[in-house]
Amino acid sequence: MWGGLAVLILVLFTGCSSPGRGTDNVAAGTVKVEESTLSAGSSNKDVQSTQNTSVQDTKPEEIPPEDDSQEAVVPQKAPKCEGISRGVNLGNALEAPQEGAWGVVLKESYFEKIKDAGFDFVRIPVRWSGHASLEAPYEIDANFLKRVDWAVEQALSRGLVAILDMHGYDEFMQDPKGEEKRFIGLWKQLSKHYAGYPDKLYFELLNEPTNNVPGDVWNNCISGALKIIRTTNPDRYIVVGPVSWNGIQQLYSLSLPEKDKKILVTYHYYSPMEFTHQGAEWVQGSDSWMGTAWTGTAAEKAAVRSDFDLAVEWARSNNRPLLMGEFGAYSTAKMVYRTRWTGFAAREAEKRGIAWSYWEFCAGFGVYDSGAGEYRQELIDALIPPGK
Ligand code: GLC
Repeated sequence: MWGGLAVLILVLFTGCSSPGRGTDNVAAGTVKVEESTLSAGSSNKDVQSTQNTSVQDTKPEEIPPEDDSQEAVVPQKAPKCEGISRGVNLGNALEAPQEGAWGVVLKESYFEKIKDAGFDFVRIPVRWSGHASLEAPYEIDANFLKRVDWAVEQALSRGLVAILDMHGYDEFMQDPKGEEKRFIGLWKQLSKHYAGYPDKLYFELLNEPTNNVPGDVWNNCISGALKIIRTTNPDRYIVVGPVSWNGIQQLYSLSLPEKDKKILVTYHYYSPMEFTHQGAEWVQGSDSWMGTAWTGTAAEKAAVRSDFDLAVEWARSNNRPLLMGEFGAYSTAKMVYRTRWTGFAAREAEKRGIAWSYWEFCAGFGVYDSGAGEYRQELIDALIPPGK
């Protein structure tokens, strides 16, 4: 149903656009997107108001049962992903233009809640490019760096792995060749700064290089960054994903140094977009997706499985562990379907030996309700089933 669908999702917003995903001629599960992000602060408000003013249904909607037939074959597994299994993204905080601008200011208690719920890692998206000079040596603002250190230490001191993810680097997406030096310059500073940190700190080179980033340019950047990082951080895990918004279908285009075994390969999963991004303010046209269900029919489940199998096939033939670094459904979708999709994606990843991190902790996709100071029970149970 995705094939041939060509939707160009355009930048809607001025000021703080950020890369994301859209749909365009996609084989099941791959998402190729042009997207921009409204300030997540405003998107959260919008979501709340949508929820508060929702029209009263006159008769209760029937929720079709989920297909529960088992997969005919036992899926193959990706090479083991050491050190991490279930995680959550601390999204909309440090990758906002300023922390708080998108409605999330990190708190110590968040790390406690994350640890207590049974997650073993956090992914921390950081907009380094917004806090570094434009001229060589691209100096990173010292106060911002301190704030990120604080977040990393909050995670590490609780035994959580922290993936430090370079996020929201819009300038790179617009002009990848032109930004190559700055990209490397940022990693030069970061690798030096974090060289003495424990191995439980991982680096993620760049979130979601878009379709505007040619595969060869991206591979060149990967190899340049790895060279720099490895001089000071020989054993640290480094997370790398492919172009096309870290889409599964582009895994094949990644070129990684054979000998470097401390690399985790990441992909992001939001398929079907019409379900996970219905009504997402930063995806143009997504209003018309409102009301899209994901009931978990046999066909819907088969599509997810075959996407993940494709990723595993690549991982096995390239001998790389896999991380599904982002997946989630926006709060505009019905909770019952969000939990089905989320739980299903998480379990199918686990069956295949794929680590995952939910997008995200306490904003528009939030598994945690920061206003109420508690988890959204259905969602956290879908991610981490009680007792497991
Ligand atoms: C990407 C974008 C982020 C967005 C998320 C879900 O990580 O950078 O802004 O909220 O995907 O679309």
